[in-house]
Amino acid sequence: MACRRTRGRRSYNVAMSKHWKTKLIHSDVSVPQGFRSLVVPTYRGSTTLFSNAAAVTDEWDQHEVGYTYGLYGTPTTMELAGRVCELEGGYRTIITPGGQSAISLINFSLLRAGDHVLVPESVYGPNRKLANDVLRRFGIEVSYYQPTIGREIASQFRPNTRLVWCESPGSITMEVQDVPAIAAVAHAAGALAVLDNTWSAGVFFDAFAHGVDVTMQALTKYVGGHSDLLLGSITVKDTSLYQQLGATHQLVGSAASPDDCSLALRGMKTMAVRLKQIEASALSIARWLSERPEVERVLHPALESCPGHEIWKRDFTGSAGVFSIVLKPGFSKNQVLAFVDSLDLFEIGYSWGGVTSLAVAYDFGGWNSRPGYGHRIVRLNIGLEETDDLMADLEQAFERLQALHSNQD
Ligand SMILES: Cc1ncc(COP(=O)(O)O)c(C=O)c1O
Repeated sequence: MACRRTRGRRSYNVAMSKHWKTKLIHSDVSVPQGFRSLVVPTYRGSTTLFSNAAAVTDEWDQHEVGYTYGLYGTPTTMELAGRVCELEGGYRTIITPGGQSAISLINFSLLRAGDHVLVPESVYGPNRKLANDVLRRFGIEVSYYQPTIGREIASQFRPNTRLVWCESPGSITMEVQDVPAIAAVAHAAGALAVLDNTWSAGVFFDAFAHGVDVTMQALTKYVGGHSDLLLGSITVKDTSLYQQLGATHQLVGSAASPDDCSLALRGMKTMAVRLKQIEASALSIARWLSERPEVERVLHPALESCPGHEIWKRDFTGSAGVFSIVLKPGFSKNQVLAFVDSLDLFEIGYSWGGVTSLAVAYDFGGWNSRPGYGHRIVRLNIGLEETDDLMADLEQAFERLQALHSNQD
């Protein structure tokens, strides 16, 4: 007897006899309903089913029209977007496959040929490279400003300035920016203020309350938290920005993997305890480092020695585990590299925000627009190892550095 079974709003004639090959694709198996768990399900999918032929649409705004295509996010992606947005206090969030793709999507969505964009000298390297190598090629004017400029940024505006990037604290040199002052100047000039909010993990700095229009984060760092995924987010303050970003996101096609979103949702659940431990450990290590005879300066926003420390105190509610040290003049580049190599617990590698401590040496020699730290700057990412062990590791590396230095004399 023919019986009809309903899937969604489509029904199938299940009495139709099916070849086993067809059963591989169209199975009649049913499982018990009512499963409930504490975990957001991982919905994978490119094709999204419509209930009837007339309902088919390629609209990207799935909050408005329902699910249309996996590229615009499955429920897993949208759950992560919603949770990032909730933490940052924005209007809506778009998830991207990495922090850098969030940066490019913001630029591609909000700039056009003939516009001018202002970027801080302390910006994340690939953000600068994108501006220099791609935006300029597309006829966008790019200029750089000193991160500590504050409201004096007004003098850098041109009639066509459309967007001002902020990153606070800046990458490697860690300058904390007066974001409210910069945003106020941008708004007075009819421009948008965009912030890379990765260091604050979206929780230690309330970007929208401080005047920012668009934030992005590399969720790769503290939200993911375990160095096993790449994801980014863009959060906007209103619907008009959401429409601009969403429409370009569709065309750029930068879809995030639901599996990575699932990992990020898991990472988020423990972010508070990880951040608390990492913050305390990083602060102890930063203070200890500031007493070391080999260290000229510790660039940790919560220490007075960091440019913009007063602004950090005014605007932030906590600090992350990434900071830099500047070694005293006299240590050669090879000695600085040997210092990093002699660390045992600190691994050497890019990215940060995971549970493993990392160290990377940088060289700003020849950059007139950057502070004169030259080759003496080392960025540390503090993980979840025991703080005393990390200090002991740094101590033995300093001893080797001193030995190398005295052998040279
Ligand atoms: C401040 C900052 N923004 C953006 C990014 C880019 O993130 P992703 O590596 O996910 O592309 C990074 C990565 O190191 C970063 O440090």
